[in-house]
Amino acid sequence: MIKGKFAILAIESSCDETAAAVVLDGREVLSNVISSQIDIHKAYGGVVPEIASRHHLNNVNWVCQQALDEAAETLAAQGEDQGTVTMDDIDAIGVTYGPGLVGALLIGLATAKAYALATGKPLIGVHHIQGHICANFIEHKELEPPFMALVISGGHTNIVEVTDYNECQVLGGTRDDAAGEAYDKVARVLGLGYPGGPLIDRIAKEGNPEAVEFKRVFLEKDSFDFSFSGIKTGVLNYVNSEKQAGRGISVPDVAASFQQAVLDVIVAKTVTAALDMNKDKIVMAGGVAANSRLREMLQAECDKHGIKLYHPSPILCTDNAAMIGCAAYYNYKAGKVSDLTLDAIPSLPL
Ligand code: KG4
Ligand code: ZN
Repeated sequence: MIKGKFAILAIESSCDETAAAVVLDGREVLSNVISSQIDIHKAYGGVVPEIASRHHLNNVNWVCQQALDEAAETLAAQGEDQGTVTMDDIDAIGVTYGPGLVGALLIGLATAKAYALATGKPLIGVHHIQGHICANFIEHKELEPPFMALVISGGHTNIVEVTDYNECQVLGGTRDDAAGEAYDKVARVLGLGYPGGPLIDRIAKEGNPEAVEFKRVFLEKDSFDFSFSGIKTGVLNYVNSEKQAGRGISVPDVAASFQQAVLDVIVAKTVTAALDMNKDKIVMAGGVAANSRLREMLQAECDKHGIKLYHPSPILCTDNAAMIGCAAYYNYKAGKVSDLTLDAIPSLPL
């Protein structure tokens, strides 16, 4: 215990961020250390799984130690100086066990198990998406379920009805590419670099969202599923045909038009889901939730319907371990504790 609160050391390694955090009673973050590999994977235009695993292996121990050290610094800054924070102060270990890259997940999982075995403290497995949703509990201390969640990242695009801390139903998901994946692929077509989401977000501000008419894919009536592979091909075809015709393209216009087409669908489906299920709160989660235009558009729609919109600050939108520590706390409170047979599950369902 720290300050009389349940202290969790959380570890996240599902993709290309090696992260560890110390979280008290689920919502108080004492440290949130993220070692990003973005610069390493940039050279390849995307995450290379084996390289990611090797870097997790190199980083995970010092990232965990750093999380303990920074927790001690935070306590000192709060006037609660206790010298060091060690595993003796930690009550449980939380870890992401899926979904994600299997080799990457295994490094965090093996580390968490080693801590659990060596200390005899409980091990708590966390679903990565549950973690993303829980980032909102850290940011908004008053937030409680039920609500509608839009989980939107490089690997996932889901509309999730959250009925309790440990209870949710997935209403829809992507049938092909995730939204972040579409951003990254379109950014590559436009020669913008990696990761494409933040770059498109920035350059689209200078473009006209109505310059190019890309198809909005709503799928069947009443479906909360998404499909983004068509628009990616649409952008590629548009760029190639303009080039073949000897015309140049305006990158800001194409970026803004692509983004508008994707966000029109995401915003419409999310708000419809909230209204259909009588939810007066929507929470955003995942890397793409940092998108400024998405926030703007969703906020405007929510205002129209009296829905309150929540989103975490950018540092809690991207992959981090504080969100895993929060989810682990609510799993623990619900009696959901794992044992040392916990395995990595790359396509773990929610
Ligand atoms: O949640 P995250 O860090 O990792 C996954 O679990 O996937 O999300 C990363 C994704 C990338 O595809 C990145 O391009 C996208 O989030 N992203 C954004 C923005 N910031 C990150 N997409 C659109 N606009 C942004 N501002
Ligand atoms: Zn993620």
